Amino acid sequence: MFEILDKQQLAERVYCITVAAPRIAKKHQPGQFVILRVHDRGERVPLTIAMSDAAAGTIGLIVQVAGATSAQLASLEKGQALSDIAGPLGKPTEIEDYGHVAVIGGGVGTAVIYPQVVGLKRAGNRVSVIIGGRTKDLVILEDVLGEVADVVYPCTDDGSYGYHGLVTGKLAELMDQADTPIKAVYAAGPVPMMKAVAEATRPSGTKTVVSLNPIMVDGTGMCGGCRVTVGGKMLFACVDGPEFDGHEVDFKELWDRLSTYKSFEKEAMERAQHRCKLENVL
Ligand code: FES
Repeated sequence: MFEILDKQQLAERVYCITVAAPRIAKKHQPGQFVILRVHDRGERVPLTIAMSDAAAGTIGLIVQVAGATSAQLASLEKGQALSDIAGPLGKPTEIEDYGHVAVIGGGVGTAVIYPQVVGLKRAGNRVSVIIGGRTKDLVILEDVLGEVADVVYPCTDDGSYGYHGLVTGKLAELMDQADTPIKAVYAAGPVPMMKAVAEATRPSGTKTVVSLNPIMVDGTGMCGGCRVTVGGKMLFACVDGPEFDGHEVDFKELWDRLSTYKSFEKEAMERAQHRCKLENVL
């Protein structure tokens, strides 16, 4: 069992939970993730390791309530425990000293970028971070990113905070104006956002790394659930990724595959809500 040591609400329906997982904390590198189960008959849920503390033996996971299992996970409180956690899984982020790097996080995708920013700074880069949300309350982790990045640009679709517009608008501005050219871009967030970032950097050929979030089951390359097409080749995000060259990813296929189970997820959420009502939980 993996005890929950802390839980913080970051935004509406978005929580950060700190879990005791010493062996995972010790081995974690940027870009890696875990697969967990809330209870021993539960669904397997892949989540990026947003932060880790090897000395304290803890990992931080960010969960957005989007379905029955994430709601169950977010409802756990300090002192309760997760049934099991497998990890760290996936290949670590490839980190080099590029000079100037832009790192982009959209919504809960921002969870992916914190360890990347730490790693890129350690390698000697100047790191400009762009984080986006629909509205001010949905922009997360600005404070912690501000402690490690050279600069953080929050962006909101409705203009309620920071740059008024999409993260790609801010990226275009930076690519035009930066005194030191941006040599690499890392992006994590919703599929349309990552696709738009890749299209924005394609004309200049700027290296663009995206962190994909396909459906995962086993996380070990056995089930095929996380199949993605990159550069015309079939790869598995759990063992070959989750980070890939954004200019080579077939985003349409990824989007279609992610949409396949939407109706099942909706049904499961409705069943869970109905159960909660029956039990007077809601
Ligand atoms: Fe099963 Fe990747 S999650 S092959």
